[in-house]
Amino acid sequence: MVIYLSSRTPLPYSPKILEIFRNPKNFGPIKDADVVSRAGSPACGDMITIYLKIEKKDNEYIISDAKFESYGCAANIAATSILTEMIIGKSLRYAWSITWKELSDEIGGLPAIKFHCSILAVGALKRGIRAFLEKIGEHPDWLPKEMTKEEKQVLDEEEAMERLSIIIGGRNK
Ligand code: FES
Repeated sequence: MVIYLSSRTPLPYSPKILEIFRNPKNFGPIKDADVVSRAGSPACGDMITIYLKIEKKDNEYIISDAKFESYGCAANIAATSILTEMIIGKSLRYAWSITWKELSDEIGGLPAIKFHCSILAVGALKRGIRAFLEKIGEHPDWLPKEMTKEEKQVLDEEEAMERLSIIIGGRNK
């Protein structure tokens, strides 16, 4: 038996997700961003970009501005919007500590099929933080040398999406 999942199938989104999806905050690019990071796959359309402005204050790096662009779903747009609000004015150390589960809880929870929307948002943020610190040649003690579980999850997601797009592309030939 083959079960087709239609994109029109209503998902149990929280009212908060729907509200933020309709009125996302911090949407758009930052032209002079200190770091720009992406997660997702342009091949399947789920793709987000996070822009960060970062300043050094009292020996801490602080995110003075954060914006995003998303070609993902309503859950991804809502999650990334909330994420930018959570990190503006906060230290890189705090931003690094946010997990996809905490982000999911902030938007009222996600259905299991949508966990990856939150993982992509947090993964893009962690990539950006790591890229910024590598660019300036700093390695604070809170930054793990090895990729974290969440960064690996994003890579897995991207590889899965690439594989899926290759399969779908092959069927459409
Ligand atoms: Fe892919 Fe939400 S970002 S389904």
